[in-house]
Amino acid sequence: MERDDRLGREMTRFLRNWSRRDFLRRTGQAGALLATGSGVAAFLEACGTGSSSGGGASSTVNTSGLPAVPTVASDVVAVAKKSSGKTLVVSQDPSGKGGQVAKLAAAQFEKDTGVKISYVVAPSSTSDLYAQYQRVFTSKASTPDTVNIDVVYPGAFGQYLADLKSVPLAGDLAQKSYPSLVQNDTVSGRLVGLPYQGDFGFLYYRTDLLKKYGFANPPATWQELTDQATKIQAGERAASPNFYGFVFQGNAYEGLTCNAMEWFVSNGGGNIIDNGKVTVDNSHNVDFLNLAKSWVGKISPSGVTAFIEEDSRNAFTTGSAAFLRNWPYVYALAGDPKNSKIVGNFDVAPLPHGPGGESAATVGGWQYGINGQSALKEAAAAWITYRAGPDFQKYSAINTTVPPTMDAVSKDPDVLKANPWLSIQTNRVVRPSKLGTKYNQGSTFIFQAVNGVLRGGDAKSALGQLQTSLQSLLG
Ligand code: GLC
Repeated sequence: MERDDRLGREMTRFLRNWSRRDFLRRTGQAGALLATGSGVAAFLEACGTGSSSGGGASSTVNTSGLPAVPTVASDVVAVAKKSSGKTLVVSQDPSGKGGQVAKLAAAQFEKDTGVKISYVVAPSSTSDLYAQYQRVFTSKASTPDTVNIDVVYPGAFGQYLADLKSVPLAGDLAQKSYPSLVQNDTVSGRLVGLPYQGDFGFLYYRTDLLKKYGFANPPATWQELTDQATKIQAGERAASPNFYGFVFQGNAYEGLTCNAMEWFVSNGGGNIIDNGKVTVDNSHNVDFLNLAKSWVGKISPSGVTAFIEEDSRNAFTTGSAAFLRNWPYVYALAGDPKNSKIVGNFDVAPLPHGPGGESAATVGGWQYGINGQSALKEAAAAWITYRAGPDFQKYSAINTTVPPTMDAVSKDPDVLKANPWLSIQTNRVVRPSKLGTKYNQGSTFIFQAVNGVLRGGDAKSALGQLQTSLQSLLG
């Protein structure tokens, strides 16, 4: 009871401080969500019956027809049952198929273990999520009990998270993940994250339109992408006035840092920080940003400078764009007649490259963490072990096309069948980890500089300033 009161107070503060603003901004539905209070009711309300809102106000994902989620394994049940009747507060983005899967998982977990799952809304933009967690952790709130940590943030949040080696199950499960992920989730010798989803960027394209306009292959270079997009857009505009050639994530947030990494590396401009030195201010990057600026308002909508993942995905799956840069989760949606007008007419390819560069794919991905202040660490460990376990990863890979974090699951024949793109060979690049705990600050400099250029700023001076700001962070 005491926990419930405390939890109620914390949840009120938690929601007041951050869910409202972010959810409102992204979906315009915060009123409906908050009117119902916090927890499962709010989450279910946010999901609606079988359909939930995506990242953008205009984005809707139909989530009906998902198969039953895996049951909870007996060793996990045994641990969770000790907390039967308690309520675990879990941070979760309710949008899209992932949100609906989470809802099914919560019901299954409660059925099998007696532990209730109360979701609080995590915003779709990882930068907004970062800000929210900062407030939770610095205020020492004991909820949410479990959090979702982007691959770039274990360093920043490690000190606030439980060492998974000190809780049941989760530490052992982590060892089945790719070693590079375990390493990434180990901060000062403490294992602070349990990987559950990988990610990397690639190019989605319309096979029917390439054929219609006489292109035998998807673009290998950025110039070819620009040329193909220009031609296709000109032709399609006759029937579809809002048709665009290329959409991506141009908002001033972490997703733009991911796009910019791919642009810079693939154009021979380096990794932003190389061998401990900031290298971002160079002519390759100036040239690329000038090219990207030339897209805005031409082959990309002016609004692309405010797009996050779902805005760009929505443009592509409604048939309003020829090319899209995005993550693998789009594959499931684009191929699903309930959510796509382009079923059978799209494919994926490595992202283009520039002269003298190689195609690059930014590495993304997610880990579960347990709040170091949580009063329910064992139940939290059971929950994240269920959600990140091989059975659940297989389910998610097949039904929501997100990359597994375990080799055994990635090689599963059913997983490969649902995700043929897993065999695409790409040069995977990581964001500048050299920034360590200052990563978010550095990335903010990066995405603000790039967004400023996309909105008309001068590329040379933006990169010059970025070089200085990043250098001062590195010390
Ligand atoms: C995806 C990636 C994540 C990245 C984010 C940017 O969620 O998995 O690593 O930071 O997109 O928007």
